[in-house]
Amino acid sequence: MARIDQSVIEDIKFRNDIEQVISGYVSLKRAGSNMVGLCPFHSERSPSFTVFTSDQSFYCFGCGSGGDVITFIRKIENLDYPSAIEFLARRAGITLTLDKDSKKESDNKRRILEMNREAARFYHKMLLSPKGKPGLDYLLKRGLTMPIIKIFGLGFAPNEFSALTGFLRSKGYTDSEMSSAFLCGISRKNGMPYDYFRNRVMFPIISVTGDVVAFGGRVMDDSQPKYLNSSDTPVFKKSRNLFALNYAKSACSEQLILCEGYMDVIALHKAGFKNAVATLGTAITPEQARIFKRYTNRVIICYDADAAGQNAANKAFRLLGEAGLECKIIKVENAKDPDEYIKKFGPDAFTSLMSKSRSEFDFRFDSIMANNDTDTTDGKVKALSQVVEVIAEFSGAAQREVYIHKAAEALSLSPDSIRRDVEKSISGRNSRQRKDEFRKIITETEGYGDRINPDAPKNLKAAKAEEAIIGILLLHPEYISEMRKKGTLPLESDFFTEFGKKVFSLMSELSMTDNFSDSMLGESLTPDEMSRLEKIKITRRQVTSNTIEILYDCLETLKRARSADEKDVGDIIKEKRKKKN
Ligand code: GTP
Ligand code: MN
Repeated sequence: MARIDQSVIEDIKFRNDIEQVISGYVSLKRAGSNMVGLCPFHSERSPSFTVFTSDQSFYCFGCGSGGDVITFIRKIENLDYPSAIEFLARRAGITLTLDKDSKKESDNKRRILEMNREAARFYHKMLLSPKGKPGLDYLLKRGLTMPIIKIFGLGFAPNEFSALTGFLRSKGYTDSEMSSAFLCGISRKNGMPYDYFRNRVMFPIISVTGDVVAFGGRVMDDSQPKYLNSSDTPVFKKSRNLFALNYAKSACSEQLILCEGYMDVIALHKAGFKNAVATLGTAITPEQARIFKRYTNRVIICYDADAAGQNAANKAFRLLGEAGLECKIIKVENAKDPDEYIKKFGPDAFTSLMSKSRSEFDFRFDSIMANNDTDTTDGKVKALSQVVEVIAEFSGAAQREVYIHKAAEALSLSPDSIRRDVEKSISGRNSRQRKDEFRKIITETEGYGDRINPDAPKNLKAAKAEEAIIGILLLHPEYISEMRKKGTLPLESDFFTEFGKKVFSLMSELSMTDNFSDSMLGESLTPDEMSRLEKIKITRRQVTSNTIEILYDCLETLKRARSADEKDVGDIIKEKRKKKN
């Protein structure tokens, strides 16, 4: 990709306020002049993810992720630098002129989407044709009606090897396009393409923008595998889409209902619950949890009644909670899944089930009580210790107090004794966490852990001086040209670590242009490397003075640290380890 003009990048950054962009993914609360929230890049229950509005950057004190709005988008949307720029440009309504490669890529995606649409039309037409009778019979037998079949664009893949592929070829699509979209497989014997979906009822997966991005296909009997689902393609990522969100998005202001299966969602929509969605045959992912957050503030989990469904609910509670959603659960009774429940008991029963939805605590508490026989001493003790652990996971003290009273009553114990156990568990957790953090620092300084700057432990003093220099230069890029004018600019070779060399040479090269900003480094550095620079910058900013004199001092320190008489810290560590063994 040709380098995007720096002024365009600055414009894009200016029009994508970091607080607003990040709010789309993380629920942020004000803390002084900054905003804090739960880090989307690691699992945490108390917020260490900080957005610095004044200089449009973010940093997580828990996991070390950080950078500007572009780095944030690269990490969270898993995009490369140019695509992140494009993403943000689109968000701000700026049109970028694409270079040849990106144009080819986006043309290719367009064609795949058009081909998918043709395929969906083909399957749907098949369903309504004589060939599709087994499929239509199956869907009607499962209680669907023509209108709902039309709305969801359901279809039928004939039991043939070249029904779809022949059709798509006649429309001018190539074998490689078909196979990249997972519509055909390629025969190992003769290299010929064959229909991937055969003798199945077809569920098109439609993105929120209305594109057909993938398919699920179900057998009509008990054979295995029950479903075939498209794998990831250039236009589709399982982990980032939700089934029926294209419909649910206009009915979700109050809440969304999360189910497991396509059939559950369709049955709910048919019964008037147009806010039902499902994941695409996998457990819910953090990305999907964040998608929920973009559309609503409340989610009702409605998984299958079996043990697998109930276990999956725990994960959904955790991920949706971390994304800042208020989350409740309902369990269908006397039916295996929501689809069967609606069919047996009707929409009104489902509405009243929803009004009896339970919170995460009640859900987990009930399952602990159900799994232990609390009439026996042993069972009661077990239940108690599990409940204590669950209560200790919640961060609000008042909230814990409510749960403590509930548990006390159910187990006929005094709230005081349960409270003491909970407090003990919390302090145990905290000290474990502190120990983990301490261990992390030790391993980093001993050189196991620093993936970003693996050279640093070889000479910690030099590496520290180098970090200080880079930090000051990031805060005051104008020093570079000042030093260049004076002829005092250090050389790349003066730096000690490969990381330091790389960053410094990039900065000195980029600073030749008029308006250097550290966002420009993103084009050549990974998001993790950008995060490290953010950390270095934050560390420096806490120092009151970052003058050019201090910079010169640090350069001196670096030189001295590099000189031969400095004992190599790497060697010291090696010696220590030898002694230990
Ligand atoms: P019914 O049995 O028709 O009620 O299906 P369902 O849509 O309710 O699905 P179920 O609850 O059994 O499974 C939930 C989701 O998991 C389905 O919608 C599929 O996306 C996925 N799934 C189920 N079985 C398979 C399988 O055998 N292979 C794959 N890849 N995915 C499956
Ligand atoms: Mn089902």
